Amino acid sequence: MGFKDNAIEEIKSRCNIVDVVGRQVVLKKTGNNHKGLCPFHNEKTPSFIVSEDRQMFTCFGCGATGDVIEFTQRIHNLDFPEAIEKLAGEYGIELKDSGFGTESKKTGLYEINREAAAFFYRKFSEGPNPGRDYMEKRGLDASTLRKFGIGYADEQWQSLLEHFQAKGTDPATLLELGLLSRSKDRYYDKFRDRVMFPIINTRGKVIGFGGRVIGEGNPKYLNSPESPVFQKKNNLYGLNLTRQDISKENSVILVEGYMDAVSLYQHGVRNVAATLGTALTVNQATMIKRYTDNIVLAYDSDQAGQAATLRGMDILYEAGCNVKVLLISEGKDPDDYIRKNGKEAFLALVKDALPFADYKLHLLKTMYDLTTTDGNLKFLKEIAKVLRGLRPIEADYYIKKVAKQTNISEGAIKREVGDPRGPTDADSHRSSGQSAETDQKGAIPAAPQLQRNLIKLMLVKSSYIPKVKPYESVFQDPDCYRIYEIVRMLYRSDEEIDFKKLEDSLGEHELGILHHIMQTVQFADRDDRVFADCISHIMEMQRGKREEEIITLLSVLDDEGDRDAIVALTKELMELQRK
Ligand code: GTP
Ligand code: MN
Repeated sequence: MGFKDNAIEEIKSRCNIVDVVGRQVVLKKTGNNHKGLCPFHNEKTPSFIVSEDRQMFTCFGCGATGDVIEFTQRIHNLDFPEAIEKLAGEYGIELKDSGFGTESKKTGLYEINREAAAFFYRKFSEGPNPGRDYMEKRGLDASTLRKFGIGYADEQWQSLLEHFQAKGTDPATLLELGLLSRSKDRYYDKFRDRVMFPIINTRGKVIGFGGRVIGEGNPKYLNSPESPVFQKKNNLYGLNLTRQDISKENSVILVEGYMDAVSLYQHGVRNVAATLGTALTVNQATMIKRYTDNIVLAYDSDQAGQAATLRGMDILYEAGCNVKVLLISEGKDPDDYIRKNGKEAFLALVKDALPFADYKLHLLKTMYDLTTTDGNLKFLKEIAKVLRGLRPIEADYYIKKVAKQTNISEGAIKREVGDPRGPTDADSHRSSGQSAETDQKGAIPAAPQLQRNLIKLMLVKSSYIPKVKPYESVFQDPDCYRIYEIVRMLYRSDEEIDFKKLEDSLGEHELGILHHIMQTVQFADRDDRVFADCISHIMEMQRGKREEEIITLLSVLDDEGDRDAIVALTKELMELQRK
């Protein structure tokens, strides 16, 4: 993070939580503590407690709890380093080691970038120039341009260089920041005759630039190279201006280009940020998740945009986001669309954005000819890949949906997917001739199905048997438990289970169940994945149980008397819910 070693300790010891909270919440002293209305949820009677001794806050209503830094993060919507900087600023705490550490070098680089941004901005705003003409032609108004700090790099070769030479700046540093280029021993400005988009991080530091050619030309955009202060993978363009709107709307529209972000913003769609033509990274996903889990991808509808959409979606989905995809017709990008059709039309597109899986389904349906058997088979293979990546409940829903929209039966889709939960009871009923109505609600409860999967796994590969052991308490179904017990007894490491012996040890009823499992549970060679799914499912169930337990406990404990227990439980609950 670049702060000196004891910076955080110093913050915690010098910023009294009662003062810091007291500036945001009216607090009343009660005994050793202070009490007030929780700023993190709506309430009429105070259940928000601040302990001066422990330097902690806890809300018994919504469970919020933490120290002075966490409070500052939450109340101002900041990340950890930002909260540290804010508190340090307010209390006059020096965060950095004096001297020539990397932090002071970075400070210098930020300063140069800021100066360059100011230089470009002046060129853009003081008198007519091709940059401003171009941006005005594209419909951007003065206040938007100012907000984004848009600038102009003139057509000469040494404008910026001379500006910095006059200040005594070392050209090597400008080279490192990508503001200059060098051929042999001559330096010259890298950005010439371009509209300049400063890229500013959420701490307000200029970290790099994008320069657009005026009109047509190649390359269309020149971007700053990676530098100690600019890592493309860790930033999103526009977020410095839009994160509050993103939090407020609890959703973000991610676009590809600078122009898309600026243009949506001007039209009043302010919960926007741009990924700048790169594939979305995990870091960017984590960054966004600080403000919202709801993400609408609004990439170009061309091939490259579609590919980027697909890659980005997976990353965001893995990060636990709720991803939707906005479709714009006729190869238009968000900027083109909103300029032509206006804000309301664009918001309608946002409203109709397709959820993750629907988008993939939509794409695949356009890629294969579903009137032919061959097309159906290829489609089935591809859609199965998508379905396998989904969370179990969603997979069920989409299997039905795919079956409805195509000629492919639910059963066939499930077989192809190798559904971790196996076929549902509905299938076995169907084969024994029951009506479709009972099928609908006949879905088997998760636990028995899970137990069946684990049994099948152990029988397919005995190395799963010891791995299942720690979770054996999931075998709540007596028949499943009995089968499991025998499987364990028969297990010798390095040997598969002797099926004959297993059958001999089971009663008729259990035998029936065993055979049913062997015939119906199928993994399509994805047993590792299935096993992992089973385990995470079990953990989730266990967490759910513990959560319920804690919530019950919290409701019966005495606010004053059991304070320590309440704080500990609340912490544990928050931890569980974070998972
Ligand atoms: P306009 O054509 O001005 O509307 O730009 P745009 O914002 O629509 O950009 P486009 O969709 O063409 O590209 C999306 C993003 O990819 C841009 O904002 C740039 O960050 C990046 N990009 C586009 N062209 C280039 C290029 O030639 N070189 C590099 N390095 N990046 C580019
Ligand atoms: Mn565009």
